[in-house]
Parts: sequence; C-alpha cells; structure tokens
Amino acid sequence: MKPGQWSSWLSRARLSPERRRLLAGPTAVVGLSVVAFSVLLWASGAPAQTQAASAPPAVDIAVGEALYNAHCESCHGAGGVGGVAPQLVQVGAAAADFYLSTGRMPLDSVHDQPTPHTPYFSKAQIADIVAYINALGVEHGTPGPGIPSVTPACAEATAGCPTLSQGQQLYLMNCAQCHDASGSGGELSHGYVVPSLRSATPTQVAEAARVGPRPMPSFGPGQLSNEQLSAIADYVHYLSTTPDPGGLGIAHFGPVPEGFVGVIFGLGVLLVAARLIGNRG
Ligand code: HEC
Ligand code: HEC
Repeated sequence: MKPGQWSSWLSRARLSPERRRLLAGPTAVVGLSVVAFSVLLWASGAPAQTQAASAPPAVDIAVGEALYNAHCESCHGAGGVGGVAPQLVQVGAAAADFYLSTGRMPLDSVHDQPTPHTPYFSKAQIADIVAYINALGVEHGTPGPGIPSVTPACAEATAGCPTLSQGQQLYLMNCAQCHDASGSGGELSHGYVVPSLRSATPTQVAEAARVGPRPMPSFGPGQLSNEQLSAIADYVHYLSTTPDPGGLGIAHFGPVPEGFVGVIFGLGVLLVAARLIGNRG
C-alpha cells in the first residue's frame, strides 16, 4: 500500500485524531520492520561467485612443501604424519583441494570447527599444496581419492538440462535430508551447521561427496559414480540459480529468520488490528 492510499484509508475509516495517534506506534513497528528487512535483503543480495573455468596452473610440489611446512605442519605434523590434527598422508588430493578451496584450512586453532571461508591461498598455491599432499600418499603407497572429474551438462543454461531430473532424484535421496530440498542448509544435532550449497562449485560438490567432511558421510564411486555426481552438481547449480519454488525466499536465511520475519510482521498487523478493535467499544 502506498503512503497516500494508507492515509486515505485512514480517513475513510473515519479515525479520530486520538485513534490515529494510537495507531502511530504499531504503524512505525511495521514500517521499521519493512526497512530493516529491505536492508537485510539488500545486504545479502550479492550473487554467489561462480568459478570461471580456467586452464589448470602448472604445479610446483617444492612450493607446496614450503607452504605446507609454514602453514600446516604445526598441526598435521612433519610430512603429514599427523600430530594434534589428523594425518594427511592418506587423505588424497580431493580432501586437500576441498578443505583449501572452501577456505576451511588452515585453522587458527585446533579447537575450531572448520567452516567455509574465503580461501586463504591463491588457486596456484592451492594446486601446489594439493600436489604435495598427493605426493605424500603416492610415496607411502597409499594415495587417497583424487579430485573427481565432473562434467556438468548444464553449467551455463539450466533450461532443458537433460540430467536435471536424475540429479534431482539423487539429490533428494542422498543430500536433501541435511542440506534441505532447496540447498539452503540447516542445522544438525550437536550444533553442527550444514552449509548452504549455493556457492559450491561442481568440483566442490563432487569432492565433498567423496571426502565427507565430518560429520557429512562420504559417498564412494560404488555409491555415486562421477556421472551421477555431475548430475547432482547440475541440480545444485540449478537450485542456486533458480528462484525459490515456494514461499518467500528471504535471501535463503533459512527457517529461523523466516520465522522471525513472520513474527515481526504478524505481530505488527495484530497490534494494528487490536488497537482498531479495542478502540471501537
Ligand atoms: C591449527 C591447527 C591446524 C592447521 C594450522 C591446519 N589444520 Fe588441517 N585440520 C585441523 C583439524 C583439527 C582437522 C580435523 C577437523 C575435523 O575433522 O573436524 C583438520 C583437517 C584437515 C583435513 C581433512 C583431513 C581428513 O581426515 O579428511 C585436511 C585435508 C587438512 N586439514 C589440510 C590442511 C592443510 C593443507 C593445512 C595448511 C594449509 C592445514 N590443514 C592447517 C587442524 C589444522
Ligand atoms: C548427514 C548430513 C549430510 C548429508 C547426507 C550430506 N551432507 Fe553435505 N555437508 C554436511 C555438513 C555437516 C557439512 C559441513 C561439514 C564441514 O564444514 O566440515 C557439509 C558440507 C557440504 C559441502 C561443502 C559446502 C561449502 O560451501 O563449504 C558440499 C558441497 C556438500 N556438503 C555436498 C553434499 C552432497 C552433494 C550431498 C549428497 C550426495 C551431501 N552433501 C550429503 C552434511 C551432510
């Protein structure tokens, strides 16, 4: 309702100046909520960054080793044998790339929960550290899972994507119970936060499935093939580029803020109604 319409409605309702004064409070509550909510929407509106496909950089294992010694060794031990943090000899390139490209590592403190951040290292540095950790596994004869090769069919256009319905089915069966049907994430017991998948690249989607960052389970090639992971990546991409199928999106803030917004708006409207009714008698 425009401000003009609002005041003409007020005069049509033949409100006494006193009643208008009483209405001013609740009206301000609703107005302020609208402003606060708009600011929230605007602030969160920055689109998720999509990773441009670029040629893989030339890797330098010696540079990776030096970076490892400076930033990882204190927790993961010399040569990745483990220390206060788990060993990295057998984790493989998929885990190293996932934890570095999502900014989960390096941690500041061994007691912190790894959470997604802006990556600490450049793409070239990440490739070097990944190559070093992969080489540790090869050296010990225990190479872990490599970076899965995903071939999303629909990275550009999602309309008419042939793998979308397969991806949707697989996603709903394997991932939605934690990441939500909309990919917006949520919470598990023990305070674990399930992140939104809206900024995950197709490679990160496949890596997460292979690695299973604790407490997420891992999915081996016997459970989900690389083709199936590619279809899931297509569906996740579709989710992150498509408006919400139902209800108010509220910028994917999730169920708690949705309830919060509902309460503020709902209470404002109820307050106005109560004042109107209360003043009638
Ligand atoms: C302050 C300590 C600390 C530092 C520094 C650190 N990590 Fe970690 N890292 C951890 C802890 C603790 C975990 C286990 C987290 C969990 O499972 O909740 C972990 C887990 C990992 C994992 C997953 C291991 C697995 O079993 O799947 C990888 C990969 C990893 N770190 C790589 C790195 C790399 C590469 C660096 C350096 C750039 C680094 N970390 C620096 C503490 C650290
Ligand atoms: C039991 C719950 C659970 C299931 C099932 C699950 N996940 Fe996860 N997932 C998590 C949790 C919890 C994290 C965060 C772990 C962390 O930060 O260390 C996560 C993290 C991720 C991330 C990293 C997101 C980011 O931006 O950092 C991706 C991608 C992902 N999951 C994809 C999937 C896919 C694809 C499936 C299905 C094949 C799936 N997950 C199934 C709980 C789950």
